[in-house]
Amino acid sequence: MVDKLILALDVKEEAQALTWADRLHDKVGFFKIGKQLFTSTGPTVVKEIIKRGGHIFLDLKFHDIPNTVAAASIEAVRLGVKMFNVHALGGYEMMARAAEATHKEAEKLGIEKPVLIAVTILTSTDESGLKEVGILEPIKDEVRRLALLAQKAGLDGVVASPQEISLVKESCGSDFVVVTPGVRPAFASLDDQKRVMTPYEAVKAGADYLVIGRPITNSEDPVKAADLIAGEMCQE
Ligand code: C5P
Repeated sequence: MVDKLILALDVKEEAQALTWADRLHDKVGFFKIGKQLFTSTGPTVVKEIIKRGGHIFLDLKFHDIPNTVAAASIEAVRLGVKMFNVHALGGYEMMARAAEATHKEAEKLGIEKPVLIAVTILTSTDESGLKEVGILEPIKDEVRRLALLAQKAGLDGVVASPQEISLVKESCGSDFVVVTPGVRPAFASLDDQKRVMTPYEAVKAGADYLVIGRPITNSEDPVKAADLIAGEMCQE
């Protein structure tokens, strides 16, 4: 099993998610549950996968007033997820309150604190999209600023595209966690991902966790695909 490998469970039904979790629980470190699956099934799928021994990255990207995000963070800790995230654009106070609430609730329950990460700028946003919402700086500067703000607020790391890994590590230090989607192993198709790195390149650039979906779930032999990816991640 590769702890650094996160499988994106981009499916809509609990039964499909559980089939993947059962098939791959000893091959991947985490299962990522996002807005589609969570909105469709609610927290039961999270609880069920945890019951079966899987670790969950709850990818709901909280962004709201500080009080609401702090309260939602407490519920994420109670659910037992090992990782979850917020939008850095929610601001310093929102992130700091989320970090504090997460820390306190984990301490209260006597469990390990989940890894709390921030989304900086979504990779689907380009510079003209940023201008439309009044952000005039180049994307890289904005990513660096938001990563530093997340760190100052007490978060553990950020989600970053392969191209941003070294920028974040240089700005925030090697201990600041980087979770990277947009990874494509040598054997897989690009799907709709445009700026990709291989698992080997992403790990070498400093990624702590890789989020991978379709190269595994669309493969004819998903277990073998996960093994091949694990091999690429560990190669020297
Ligand atoms: O199937 P694929 O490997 O492209 O899945 C990648 C996962 O990472 C998806 O769940 C996608 O929503 C997510 N993601 C991404 N790019 C980002 C942020 C998240 O592909 N910038």
